[in-house]
Order: sequence, then structure tokens, then C-alpha cells
Amino acid sequence: MASYQTKSAQPKRYLQTLFATSLYIVELELDIKNLEHFCKNHQQKNKEGEQKSNNGGYQSNFILPHKGPLDPLIKEIETNANIFAQQFLNKKDTQKIESIWMNTNSYKDSNRVHLHPGSSISGVYYIKTPSSSGNIVFQHPAFDELSFYYNSFNSLPGQRNEPEEYNQFNTSTVTASAIENTLYLFPSWLKHYVESNMNKTEERISISFNISPSFLKNRPINKL
Ligand SMILES: [Fe+2]
Repeated sequence: MASYQTKSAQPKRYLQTLFATSLYIVELELDIKNLEHFCKNHQQKNKEGEQKSNNGGYQSNFILPHKGPLDPLIKEIETNANIFAQQFLNKKDTQKIESIWMNTNSYKDSNRVHLHPGSSISGVYYIKTPSSSGNIVFQHPAFDELSFYYNSFNSLPGQRNEPEEYNQFNTSTVTASAIENTLYLFPSWLKHYVESNMNKTEERISISFNISPSFLKNRPINKL
């Protein structure tokens, strides 16, 4: 089992972070109008799509291999996945996109809680996020255990054991604003969902993907 030991020299009183979950966010400067046009065309030509994590809305089939408007995005995803993996996760192997697909969510459409089995890093890039179109929410890795644990306090009258303010040490979910032209990368095991789009007239459009070390290329792929 993977493990590491805490450093020995420490001040007398300190707080140790035992486990941390990473979310890598980077603003890009891509031509989102061009990407939006590509997505609308792709959806038009591939109307059927797939049913995976989406509650309503449209989730496309795999888009790779690809040559054209998606290429600048694919390049940015791989460049940043390598920075994320090598500089922050200490993984030395080159990271490559294994699968990529697009999502369109209209009024009240959402993506339910899921993770991306079989990949190393997963992520999303937002092309269009009109007001009230929903954000991405990440669940604590021990979310189920935390719910059970805190519910046992809640069953006692007047006993809530609620913190005054939530932070990374006491929260069970973290919401990240879905921002246009912004790329989000996270470990594929991290459960997440996307809130309902409550904008009655405009769609939310995003591109999701899975990434793995390049030595795993040409194996069967997963998409959720
Ligand atoms: Fe996802």
C-alpha cells in the first residue's frame, strides 16, 4: 500500500494535513466561439449521443481521434495534465488523453454523482456557462462515512455538531464555479456531480475527458 511518513522536526504545536485531494484549475485563452460552433455541429451530426452520467441533456460519443477545432484544447489538456501529474502528484510518466466527449445541458439538466474508473486524471473544460447554469461539486473521498457519522449526532435532540464555518478539514463537499474557458483537472477516483442548469433559455456546454499514462495507450477505454 502506498504510504509516506511525517517529517520528524516540527514545532511543538502544529496541524498536519494527513491526506489531501487536488483540484488543478487553469484559465485558458482558447477561441470559445469556435469551440462552441464545433460542439453544436458535432451534436447536430451525432444526435443520438450516449447516456452515462447525464440526467437529461446530451452527452456525445468519443470524439478522438481528432484533427481540427478541438486540437488546441487537446494540446492544453495534455500540457496541463503533465504539469499536474509531474509537479504536484510526483508521477513521471507522460500523460495522454484516452477519451474525450462533449456535454450539453439545457434547463434542469444535470450530471449525477460519478467517478471515472480506469483512468489516472479526469477533467472538464467549460465552453459556455450562462448565469445560473450550475457548478461542479466534488465529494469528500469519505463522503458516505461522513454522512453516516454526522447523522448519528443529528439523531440526538439539539445535537448538531455543525461547524460555524466550513473549511477543507470539516466539509463533505466542495463547489467549484464552472467558469468559461477554464480547465479543471482532478484524480479520476474523485466523485463529482454537476448541478442542474437553471437558466431557462441558454445551454451549458462543456468538454470532458479521461487521461492516463502513455504506456497504457491502446487498451480498452472507459467513459462515465
Ligand atoms: Fe465527470
